[in-house]
Amino acid sequence: MSKKVLMVCLGNICRSPLAEGILKSKVGKDIIVDSAGTEGYHVGHLPDKRSIAVAKLNNVDITKQRARKVSLSDFDEYDYIYAMDEENYNNLIDMAKNDLQRSKVSMIMNKLHPKENIDVPDPYFGDENEFKHVYKMLDKATDKILEKL
Ligand code: 4NP
Repeated sequence: MSKKVLMVCLGNICRSPLAEGILKSKVGKDIIVDSAGTEGYHVGHLPDKRSIAVAKLNNVDITKQRARKVSLSDFDEYDYIYAMDEENYNNLIDMAKNDLQRSKVSMIMNKLHPKENIDVPDPYFGDENEFKHVYKMLDKATDKILEKL
């Protein structure tokens, strides 16, 4: 059965769409990758134009994505749920209903730096450089994820 990976941030317009797009660009169609937000402020919206731009600079197209909110069924549907930061992680753990669901949730940068709980910083109020920094972090983390899929 194909593995399913869900990338999660707060709004699902800046970080997790990049994480989704970068990982998708590295895997075949046998791996399902999606993203969602813990909040619904931007449901139905395109990714932030600064995420679209930094992805495009790296030949990754994320313009087919639309924001959605994490749902309870995601905890059954997906095998791996990666939180971008500790707040997202805590919200996901609070939503999860049992140990199996909780065991699927981890912080994405812990793939590279186990147990350090490093956040992918929220770039929403930042500038283009912060989006580039986020891209680089996610590029490295998704390489590591790929090794284990
Ligand atoms: P994201 O960034 O969680 O990486 O998508 C944010 C997007 C929107 C908001 C905050 C963070 N917001 O407050 O609307």
